[in-house]
Amino acid sequence: MTSSKSTPVIVLGGGLAGLTVALRLADAGREVLMLAKRQLSEGSSHYAQGGIAAVLDEDDSVESHVEDTLRAGAGLCNEASVRFVVEESGSSIQWLIDQGVKFTLKGKGDCDGSKSELSPYHLTREGGHSVRRVIHADDATGRAVIQTLEARARSHERIKILEQHIAVDIITSAKLNLPGTNRCLGLYALNKATSHVVTLPATTVVLATGGASKVYLYTSNPDTSTGDGIAMAWRAGCRVSNMEFVQFHPTCLYHPQAKSFLLSEALRGEGALLRLPDGTRFMPDHDDRAELAPRDIVARAIDYEMKRGGFESVYLDISDKPAKFIYEHFPNISQRCADLGFDLTTKPVPVVPAAHYTCGGVLTDLEGRTDVEGLYAVGEVSTTGLHGANRLASNSLLECLTFAISSSANILADQASEPGEVDLPPWDESQVSDADEQIVVTHNWDEIRRTMWDYVGIVRTSKRLERASHRVRLLQSEIRDYYRNFRIDNNLIELRNLVVVADLIIRSALDRKESRGLHYTLDYPETLPDAEAVDTVLVPDNYVGPQN
Ligand code: FAD
Ligand code: SIN
Repeated sequence: MTSSKSTPVIVLGGGLAGLTVALRLADAGREVLMLAKRQLSEGSSHYAQGGIAAVLDEDDSVESHVEDTLRAGAGLCNEASVRFVVEESGSSIQWLIDQGVKFTLKGKGDCDGSKSELSPYHLTREGGHSVRRVIHADDATGRAVIQTLEARARSHERIKILEQHIAVDIITSAKLNLPGTNRCLGLYALNKATSHVVTLPATTVVLATGGASKVYLYTSNPDTSTGDGIAMAWRAGCRVSNMEFVQFHPTCLYHPQAKSFLLSEALRGEGALLRLPDGTRFMPDHDDRAELAPRDIVARAIDYEMKRGGFESVYLDISDKPAKFIYEHFPNISQRCADLGFDLTTKPVPVVPAAHYTCGGVLTDLEGRTDVEGLYAVGEVSTTGLHGANRLASNSLLECLTFAISSSANILADQASEPGEVDLPPWDESQVSDADEQIVVTHNWDEIRRTMWDYVGIVRTSKRLERASHRVRLLQSEIRDYYRNFRIDNNLIELRNLVVVADLIIRSALDRKESRGLHYTLDYPETLPDAEAVDTVLVPDNYVGPQN
């Protein structure tokens, strides 16, 4: 082993989690290499709409935010994690403000947002929150945040960015048969421009690769959400947890060209109602909190009403509000709707649920550390215990921020134990040839996504899950063979990861013989009295134990 001085920390992903880790490390003097499989900022963070939940108002409190998060999480949150995130929420938001993010100020439209004199920011409301606590930049919070951080990262002297590079696998000491604890030493990544796999040594790798909602046919997510980080960590020997809890956002625009465009929950927070095609409001029949119940309840109610009535969609209606209010609060959403022929200000718009957020992921501690030394997981790729069985709206961006900050602090504090550089073996292509039929990959992609949508959706049964399990296992062995024999490309890498993630979701769903939070099965509709009765942690065959 040689000195690690020139070896960078690799941050995989340019969303909120990745950019925050990279900037915190680089500002503290570390060399950082950022990798992104498309353009740096293409990922869910860029498309975030509603905002970031945080305790910023004198009418709010840490206790109240903690309580709302625990209630949404249906008994499976780790309270220490929830408390940590909520307590850090104010300083995390302050860091974004210090970077130059321009959040919406009070006084927009005719809505006060918050009564506090202390905070100049308009706070909106979303489902499951007992008070207004969501800070936002109009209805395009992600874009405002990411543009600001991306500009800083691109001009930072200690951050190098490799776009169009898709990570394939983590290189660990166990894979190289080196003695000692299982440690991350770097990774292989495909340079999509040259079609060559590069070997990248790293002292530390941070997985900030986002979620896996593309495993479903209909999703609010961009194409990047293929669960790569979860699958790579699993193959590297990390435990994965809570995968059965897939969050479906209740209100995506129902339109063939809209590609599941999201209609933010903030619309309901500001008064939008859900209606059947004949105009009847239905949410009060399902929950006392009506349109502002947590997402699992609203998505399930919509699914129920659509199936009961044989409807293709239900309708979201904010037309009772003045047009000025709607344009001022939701300029981007109302414009996108108008482009597609819908006028939010005069008529209800058709909406359907779509896969939105992966509550499960790579198991970490409060510093983002996984089971493999030197491998961190931050953001949607991880399970930190914050969300439990159901994520509270706008807690995700907050989780990205707080855990990015704690992980980077831990990486900096832990520099002394970093290994020297190891000679890593180059990628071996000697046994593969060019693929003869791309159609196999395309077909398998479609089959996984349709199987998951049809059999592992909002309402599950054991029979449907068994059917999905059988198909996904067959696909898994077919894809494994294909991967061994042919040269890899972006689609094959993602397909190989998607099928792993699909399998992990189905296995977890089959293990949970109860209904809780986002996991609802007709065969076990009751919630077990003991939240811990079902072990939600999946352990890979090559797991060697937790880090110290
Ligand atoms: P992402 O932002 O998804 O970034 C992942 C990055 O990893 C990308 O750069 C991607 O290219 C890269 N990557 C992935 N795999 C690889 C690989 N193999 N190699 C190299 N790079 C890779 N949450 C809220 O809290 N508030 C909201 O208002 C909100 N609105 C949302 C609206 C929409 C439409 C969507 C889709 C989500 C929303 N969410 C919201 C959820 C939230 O945006 C995401 O959970 C969060 O942004 C995830 O951030 P991340 O940094 O973990 O991942
Ligand atoms: C939304 O704006 O509805 C998305 C918020 C979230 O996913 O937390």
